[in-house]
Amino acid sequence: MKPSPLFLTLSPLFLALTSSSSPSTPSPPSPLVVDTAPSHLRPYILPRYAGHAIKLTTSGQIIRFSITANSSAGAFSLVQHAGKATGWTSARPHTHRRVHEHFFCTKGRVELWTKKNATGAVDEARVLTQGDFGTAPPGTIHTFQHIDPDSQLTHIYNPGGFEELFQVFSLGDFESPHGAPYELVEEDQRPFGDATPEQEAQLNSLDLWIAKADVYVPRRDFVNGTAGDARLNWHDGNNSLSSDPMDPYYIAKDYGPKYLLNSEDGYKVIQPLLTASQTPFRNLTVGTITLSPRRKGEKANVVRLENHFAIQMDEGQLALTIQGYERELLLQGDVAFIPAGTRFEYYATVPFTKFLYVNAGERGYADELLERAVPWNFPVYPA
Ligand SMILES: *[C@@H]1O[C@H](CO)[C@@H](O)[C@H](O)[C@H]1NC(C)=O
Ligand SMILES: *[C@@H]1O[C@H](CO)[C@@H](O)[C@H](O)[C@H]1NC(C)=O
Ligand SMILES: *[C@@H]1O[C@H](CO)[C@@H](O)[C@H](O)[C@H]1NC(C)=O
Ligand SMILES: *[C@@H]1O[C@H](CO)[C@@H](O)[C@H](O)[C@H]1NC(C)=O
Ligand SMILES: *[C@@H]1O[C@H](CO)[C@@H](O)[C@H](O)[C@H]1NC(C)=O
Repeated sequence: MKPSPLFLTLSPLFLALTSSSSPSTPSPPSPLVVDTAPSHLRPYILPRYAGHAIKLTTSGQIIRFSITANSSAGAFSLVQHAGKATGWTSARPHTHRRVHEHFFCTKGRVELWTKKNATGAVDEARVLTQGDFGTAPPGTIHTFQHIDPDSQLTHIYNPGGFEELFQVFSLGDFESPHGAPYELVEEDQRPFGDATPEQEAQLNSLDLWIAKADVYVPRRDFVNGTAGDARLNWHDGNNSLSSDPMDPYYIAKDYGPKYLLNSEDGYKVIQPLLTASQTPFRNLTVGTITLSPRRKGEKANVVRLENHFAIQMDEGQLALTIQGYERELLLQGDVAFIPAGTRFEYYATVPFTKFLYVNAGERGYADELLERAVPWNFPVYPA
């Protein structure tokens, strides 16, 4: 006899829920899919446009906390910065002394400026479109500006904790039952004036050091989306990862190094954006993985990593099963955090599924895959 649906619901979980009066019964696991990044280290999935959000500027810009120092045990943080086009940079040009910050454009267009802390350094600026990457090692002067009507920049902080600044300088929580990307504000007020000595001291305590106008003014002489060293390509030729971990650099979508892995689990195109050699801490890897869908007979990818791992969905749909939880389906904008040592399985359910990965540690998941991959000239896999 087939078990009835009712029988199926009488699972150990059901029994655990109904016998909560017994002190020896373990409490049911917290749900995997959350609406706020957890306050402690644990696996979770935060759906797109979910998460605690604050108002950053009077022109409606929003910061959403996807991965926090608390949820990653300090390893790294990831926030989403959404807004309309604005005539102002969203931050005073500044440096961090402890934090290495990375940028990945997920919607619209965002201008990004970076100037290395070195004599004679060139002020580099780029217009990032969806899928473009930039990085600002400690000491790099940087700032950014949203310039399309619906723009979003993902910021990654290594180590985690810098996001505390957004809580301190928040203009209030942003809540939208409809998941509006940002607050609708007609005006485009200048978001800040000169910092008072008190504000500056507070910013410094949060690892933000203002580069004042006598030191730095963002250049505006963009041509074809770029300003800086004219020899550097921008959407018109290859970009490479820098050999100096203190160098800021940019990788345009699909113009960086690419590798193809053709395995029993289908195709993967791996595009590293940052390896341990590109950060003075030697403990983070960032990049994208594009997958072919799982076909009949193909296996899911089974992974257990030594370091914390995060996924931010870019395209398609990913089936993700994290040890101890049911399978979940992830769409563009969803973020998953998988603590070190936690087994997980994944596969694409639709063609050309792509995600951004962020992995703590010197040798990341992508490095493991690259051992079996070959250099590849295309962002797409073969037919
Ligand atoms: C992080 O955790 C600490 C200690 O539990 C708590 O005081 C703090 O408010 C948390 N921060 C955030 C942003 O949730
Ligand atoms: C820039 O580099 C100099 C010399 O190495 C150092 O003293 C200074 O602290 C750096 N500035 C920042 C903001 O990191
Ligand atoms: C800008 O792009 C156009 C079109 O691709 C090209 O013809 C032109 O040479 C570019 N300008 C510069 C300064 O690279
Ligand atoms: C770009 O890089 C690929 C290797 O990833 C190489 O085969 C190709 O020749 C490069 N193109 C140019 C214009 O340098
Ligand atoms: C990388 O190293 C720095 C400096 O030791 C540390 O603060 C940070 O938490 C580490 N990051 C990761 C992702 O392990």
